[in-house]
Amino acid sequence: MFAFILKTIVFFAAVFSEKDLIVYNEESEKFEKTKEKIDSKIKKTTDGQIQTQGDIDPFKLENTWKYLKNYIENSLNDNEKLEKVSIKDAFYKDFLYLKNKDKKMKVFSFEMLNQWVENRQKQISKVYFSKTKELTPTNINKNIKQKLILEAQRARSFAYVPYSEFHVGSAILTKDGKIYSGCNFENAAYGNTICAERCAIAKAISSENRGISFQKNSNIVAIAIVIRGGGGSPCGNCRQVLNEFNPDMLVIMSDIDGENVIEKPLTDLLPMGFGPANLDKAQVK
Ligand code: THU
Repeated sequence: MFAFILKTIVFFAAVFSEKDLIVYNEESEKFEKTKEKIDSKIKKTTDGQIQTQGDIDPFKLENTWKYLKNYIENSLNDNEKLEKVSIKDAFYKDFLYLKNKDKKMKVFSFEMLNQWVENRQKQISKVYFSKTKELTPTNINKNIKQKLILEAQRARSFAYVPYSEFHVGSAILTKDGKIYSGCNFENAAYGNTICAERCAIAKAISSENRGISFQKNSNIVAIAIVIRGGGGSPCGNCRQVLNEFNPDMLVIMSDIDGENVIEKPLTDLLPMGFGPANLDKAQVK
C-alpha cells in the first residue's frame, strides 16, 4: 500500500514537473509558454498518452510547424541546421500522417517534434525477462515486442534517405534480451544502399558476437521493422541475410505509431530459403 502511494506521488510529481511547452500563438504572433493555461485541461494517462478535455487545441499542427521553422532558422548554428533541416520534412510528413490517422495525435505534436528534432527518445538496448528461460521467437511477450518497435522507431529517425525519402527503422532482439537497431542509408550510386534490416544485422554481429556461434545458436529471435504506413516487409536481399542467422525468427512489421502490426515467422516470408544447411548437405567426405 505504502509502495502504491509512493508510486502515485512520484508519477504526479513527474507529470507536473514537466517543462513548459512553447507554442506559436497566431494572434500575438509570438511563441508563448502554455503550461499554466492548459494544465487543467490536459491529462496524462499512465501509458504516457496526453489527452485534452474540452475544446482547446494549443498544439495545432500549424503552430508546431511554425515553431519548428522558427527554431531551425533562429536558434541553431550552421552544422545543426544541416542536420535538422534534413529531418524537418520527414517529421512533417510523419506528423501529417498521424494527424490524419488519429485526430487525437495533434495534441501530441510538441512532444513528437522534440523526439524527432532533439533525438530525445532513449535508446533501448536491453529488455528484461525471467532469468529461468531464454527468449524464443514464440515466447516474446507484448511488452518486449513494443520495446523492440520503439527502438526501431528511434533508429528510423536517423535514416539517411536523400534519394527515396523513405525512412526505415529496424531492431533485432537476441535470445539474451539485447537489442541492436539500424536504419537505411542510401548512396549516390543508388544500388549501394543498405536497408535498415541489414544495418541492424551488421551492428549485432560486429558489436560483440562471434558470427559462427551466433548463427549456430540461432541467437536472433525477432526483428521489428517500422515504416510509415506499416507492413514494412523486408526486401528479398534482407530476407536472405536474415535467413542466414535464424529462419525461424519472428518478423514484426509496424506502423510509425506502433500500430497496424503484422507478425510472421521468417520462414513464411522466405519458404525453402537457401541457408548454411544446404551447403552442409553437399559436403562429400
Ligand atoms: N528499404 C529498407 O531499408 N528496408 C526494406 O525492407 C525495404 C527498403 C529502404 C531501401 C531504400 O533506402 C528505401 O527503403 C526505398 O527503397
